[in-house]
Amino acid sequence: MLAPTYPVETERLLLRPLDPIKDVDAVHAYQSLPEVCRYIPFEPRTREQIAERLMDPERVRWAMLEPGQALDLGMVRKDTGQLIGDVLLMWRDETNAEIGYAVHPDHHGHGYATEAAGAMLRLAFEPDHGLALHRVTARIDQRNPASAAVLTRLGMRQEAVLVENEWFKGEWSTEVDFAILDREWRALQRR
Ligand SMILES: CC(C)(COP(=O)(O)OP(=O)(O)OC[C@H]1O[C@@H](n2cnc3c(N)ncnc32)[C@H](O)[C@@H]1OP(=O)(O)O)[C@@H](O)C(=O)NCCC(=O)NCCS
Repeated sequence: MLAPTYPVETERLLLRPLDPIKDVDAVHAYQSLPEVCRYIPFEPRTREQIAERLMDPERVRWAMLEPGQALDLGMVRKDTGQLIGDVLLMWRDETNAEIGYAVHPDHHGHGYATEAAGAMLRLAFEPDHGLALHRVTARIDQRNPASAAVLTRLGMRQEAVLVENEWFKGEWSTEVDFAILDREWRALQRR
């Protein structure tokens, strides 16, 4: 089980579950943009779709009780209080999880995605306050170098290139898989 104390704090961000009322406009501001959705598995969302999703307790949860669940946390800038994106930890099975993230383009280029995803790795690997998992993965589209750069900055290894493995939004997509093990993550923390 993973039940973090909120907000989860990083150097410049507060991470917390999305608020089904107050966060709708801020989430809509980026999830409605075609460029944000280009390589993620949904089409730009309407305000109504977002409001409905944020009311769904399966999608906006405060804790993960068992594998198969996902924790989706909003990224809030400490300096402005703005919600600028969200970061996802999907608990796959006893030993594995997967991460994902999206940030409003106005806030790209500051390292916020890397900072937030780093906090999710901590929640995945930490034995005391986290899930004590063995391995975290990320699957991205080869045409998304900004996302590959986030994963590389986190210390994740590129493990596989699955050439044209999925027909995605009207084109073949080549999937690139990244991963990091608990011992690799611990070694990075000691540096
Ligand atoms: C993927 C995505 C989150 C990357 O955003 P990003 O802003 O490039 O990534 P980061 O937040 O880690 O910022 C990194 C950039 O900030 C710069 N930076 C500035 N200060 C920094 C800091 N303190 N720490 C780290 N990087 C910093 C880095 O040099 C880098 O700049 P560069 O792109 O010019 O090399 C963004 O492109 C996005 O939301 N895309 C749409 C959704 C998406 O595709 N998600 C991934 C699906 S798998």
